[in-house]
Amino acid sequence: MSPTLFFSMPGNERLAAGLAAQLDCETGELDTRQFPDGETYLRFATDLDKRSIAIVCTLAHPNEKILPLIFAAAAARELGAPRVGLVAPYLAYMRQDRRFNPGEAVTSREMAHLVSEAFDWMVTVDPHLHRYSDLSEIYSIPTRVVHAAPLVSRWIKANVEKPLIIGPDSESEQWVAAVASEAEAPYSVLEKVRHGDRDVRITLGNLGPWQGRTAVLVDDIISSGRTMIEAVRLLAAQGWPPPVCIAVHGLFADHSDELLIAAGARVVTTNSVGLGRSEIDVGPLLGQAVQALADVGPGP
Ligand code: R5P
Repeated sequence: MSPTLFFSMPGNERLAAGLAAQLDCETGELDTRQFPDGETYLRFATDLDKRSIAIVCTLAHPNEKILPLIFAAAAARELGAPRVGLVAPYLAYMRQDRRFNPGEAVTSREMAHLVSEAFDWMVTVDPHLHRYSDLSEIYSIPTRVVHAAPLVSRWIKANVEKPLIIGPDSESEQWVAAVASEAEAPYSVLEKVRHGDRDVRITLGNLGPWQGRTAVLVDDIISSGRTMIEAVRLLAAQGWPPPVCIAVHGLFADHSDELLIAAGARVVTTNSVGLGRSEIDVGPLLGQAVQALADVGPGP
């Protein structure tokens, strides 16, 4: 069995090279370009015959990425790859996990169906599991999930003096409690009600007992940023100095990172989406997870 070849969709080259190096594998070359009409050209410039492969593609802004990714997986099989895996550090379309209003598409399920048809296995980082307890409820292929909480705790311990960990809503409580416990810090969870994509109401509660600590807001995703921006605003209104805002996945729609920084916050993420504001490297944990599913040696 030859070890897995790692390919990257555009923008994922560094992560793919890091994984290949960590697992003593090679990277292959996948050429992609855009035709003038917006369609995608794909060519594997590395021989795939009898070579299992992994394609690295984070799925922020998924609509422009998914079709080329599915085409690449299908082409790889036609060219002789016996197994085709996906490393998607950010897994899109997890939040529409039920039909909130009549007639809506439950896109988390449709996405899972597409990916499960195209790939043999998948590795991701902290997918937004709210109403699903496990990816296996919707993904029919083997999956491994990397949990960033220990890395987040380690970062907090190393960088923040006397932190108070704050989760934005009750659904984040379990995760926030784990981060706080490993960071040896107290935590509090806010009350959040979302009225629309960009309309979030938060209740802060009594944080008085923790005055003098540094507020560290932690969430799995910053998308529009409304959750974090509202929490930062309320903390300021109660006289707290600007907090640290940490998210596993920094999607930063609407320039929300810039808005948070303008409000005085320090913004920190993992590199699951890109290098942007990332100070926390999920690469080594991704490598361990890939090792469990891909055709690789015992590793270092
Ligand atoms: C929600 O359930 C998630 O945990 C995040 O709080 C949410 O996705 C953040 O979204 P936004 O940045 O748009 O407020």
